[in-house]
Amino acid sequence: MQKFDVLEKMNEQQRLKYMLVMLEGQLSSETDILANLSNASAIVKVVIKELNWAGFYFFRNDELVLGPFQGLPACNRIKPSNGVCGTAFSERKVQRIYNVHDFPGHIACDAASNSELVIPIIKSGVIYGVLDLDSPLIGKFTELEEEYLILFVEKLNQYLDWEKLTV
Ligand code: SME
Repeated sequence: MQKFDVLEKMNEQQRLKYMLVMLEGQLSSETDILANLSNASAIVKVVIKELNWAGFYFFRNDELVLGPFQGLPACNRIKPSNGVCGTAFSERKVQRIYNVHDFPGHIACDAASNSELVIPIIKSGVIYGVLDLDSPLIGKFTELEEEYLILFVEKLNQYLDWEKLTV
């Protein structure tokens, strides 16, 4: 089993680099998309401090539908125009929200969430869904985290066939 206590001695950037190394290890050793996404959400949750939720929503039948995640049970379906996730999806733009309570239409799946980072998953011009991170801290997410989470999604893109999820 992998050891995670090494993370304790690392600074923010080292942890984020290690997150990509762990993801590479996962994706290069497993082909099942659900196994990969489940562990991808667990990797994000163990690496990034002060998260209460990390996981995926995928666009299926005109809605964003909950995928593998770590955290409390969450909204099953989000309209593509709603909330932070829907905005990231419909505008195809990263949303790094300092205080979700100032975001019009924010969907409070977990009352503990105060800030949010959502990365759209776009491959060859097609948008498949989003990776969503929630924190109880206001203004938690840094530019560096945004940068590395974009790299995280790019690595998922390299390995995974999202078409398998769009049934
Ligand atoms: N807060 C999100 C909804 C998803 S949960 O946070 C897991 C939003 O406004 O889109």
